[in-house]
Amino acid sequence: MKVSFHVNGEARALDLDPRVTLLDALRDHLQLTGSKKGCDHGQCGACTVLVDGRRVNSCLSLAVMHEGSEITTIEGLGTPENLNPLQQEFVSCDGYQCGYCTPGQIMSATGMLAEAREGAPSHVSDSLTGTSELTDAEIAERMSGNLCRCSAYPFIREAISRVAEAEEK
Ligand code: FES
Ligand code: FES
Repeated sequence: MKVSFHVNGEARALDLDPRVTLLDALRDHLQLTGSKKGCDHGQCGACTVLVDGRRVNSCLSLAVMHEGSEITTIEGLGTPENLNPLQQEFVSCDGYQCGYCTPGQIMSATGMLAEAREGAPSHVSDSLTGTSELTDAEIAERMSGNLCRCSAYPFIREAISRVAEAEEK
């Protein structure tokens, strides 16, 4: 089955078995191995990518469902020589140990910051309207779909908080 979409701004066309997940299409067919397969069951968030600006567990989504979509993976954010602000703060804050969850954490944080800017509430928001201050509890709740087996959570939240504060200035 043919499917065409943009990945990190580049047009890509694939001919896939309809059962191939978006994660496997990215990793095995496009050699974009930054997105990780942690559980393959929608439980860890290591495979998080953005699809049309929204975070998606790519292990739970079939590639052929994304005809015409704009997909962003960790490879589309920055480069080793020119890290984007979240990537830089994860380094500065020691927001990882083994690093396996890190691409998913950063992609999820990218989507989460956009959701917060747009006024999407979380389960711990005081109000369902308006924007919420990104407190530690807000960040923890909004990032709760991304597990870190190394338990770098305080440093991950600090990195995200720094970027959120910088964006407000
Ligand atoms: S690999 Fe997709 S959620 Fe774990
Ligand atoms: S840094 Fe090892 S799983 Fe998160």
